[in-house]
Amino acid sequence: MSTRVVLLGGGGFIGKSLARRLAGPGFEVTVPTRRPGARAALALLPGVRLVACDVHDPRQLARLFADADAVVNLVGILHDGDSVRPYGRRFAAAHVELPRKVVAAMRAAGVRRLLHVSALKASDTAPSAYLRSKAAGEAVVLEAAGAIDATIFRPSVVFGPEDAFLNRFASLLRVFPVLPIAGAGTRFQPVYVGDVAEACAAALDDRATYGTIYELGGPKVYTLRQLVEYVGSLIGRPRPVIDLPGPLARLQACMLGLLPNPPMSPDNLRSLQVDNVTDGQHDFPGWRPQPLEAVAPTYLSRIGAGSRYDELRRRAAR
Ligand SMILES: NC(=O)c1ccc[n+]([C@@H]2O[C@H](COP(=O)([O-])OP(=O)(O)OC[C@H]3O[C@@H](n4cnc5c(N)ncnc54)[C@H](OP(=O)(O)O)[C@@H]3O)[C@@H](O)[C@H]2O)c1
Repeated sequence: MSTRVVLLGGGGFIGKSLARRLAGPGFEVTVPTRRPGARAALALLPGVRLVACDVHDPRQLARLFADADAVVNLVGILHDGDSVRPYGRRFAAAHVELPRKVVAAMRAAGVRRLLHVSALKASDTAPSAYLRSKAAGEAVVLEAAGAIDATIFRPSVVFGPEDAFLNRFASLLRVFPVLPIAGAGTRFQPVYVGDVAEACAAALDDRATYGTIYELGGPKVYTLRQLVEYVGSLIGRPRPVIDLPGPLARLQACMLGLLPNPPMSPDNLRSLQVDNVTDGQHDFPGWRPQPLEAVAPTYLSRIGAGSRYDELRRRAAR
């Protein structure tokens, strides 16, 4: 019999990868989304069903979970206009109140299995509201132990063909001759999206993972500067990277934070005060992550080929 899994936030970057991993025999996957049109490709996967849904509405959640065996919560946002402590309304709604509604709806429907995707360095005392709200969401999930068999994942920054991280730097490097960035010395442990999806898939029916928090990091640690320089080399745009000093970094974050889909905000800047690396004590069982160098060239080099072609055309004035 198939395992019926509801992927909340399944239309996003990690969710799509997990839906692809689960598609096929053994699973029936339901992906609720606010934007079925934008997520339509998912419905083409075998055994994957796309449902237009407001997951914040408890009645719609109840319907969603009525015949489910497991729930994966991947809903997350990076920005919240409010700069209040411990976190603003949008972080509260997405990272704390939604997990509370999810747990309540699961209990009412008799669904016990929950995978909850949080973030590395989530903590009540973190400098950023994003990380504080992620910690509060974890607490909501852990408090439900007894009624809910939860496993929490805390990924470092995730990379893969549709990532918003390396691809964003690639876009910036294509435009700017010099890249001034904040937090150039902050350390990251990028993890491949396929490995995150694999860990989620493996955990689904693994009782040994119940009640445990796992940190998901790649095999190597890089500073942000090294990552940006690596992207530059892959796309054929090796640009100087300048580490913005504090006041300029704050000014840049304030200005960029006003954009509709901001690449940086004051809260993101505060996240960069903490190295985003695992402690090595909370690895997922059998964790053997892909190196960045084995995957990033497969999608970033394609951008590189395009930019080299553009540059040759520009030089030839064609
Ligand atoms: N990507 C990373 O580098 C990274 C690193 C650490 C942790 N994480 C965490 O991993 C999870 C998945 O990340 P991701 O990169 O896949 O995110 P993503 O691509 O932005 O997708 C997020 C998903 O959440 C849903 N969503 C967003 N805001 C919502 C809201 N206000 N109400 C209801 N649904 C909402 C979206 O659903 P619709 O289909 O309705 O748009 C979307 O499918 C998040 O919790 C994130 O914090 C990600």
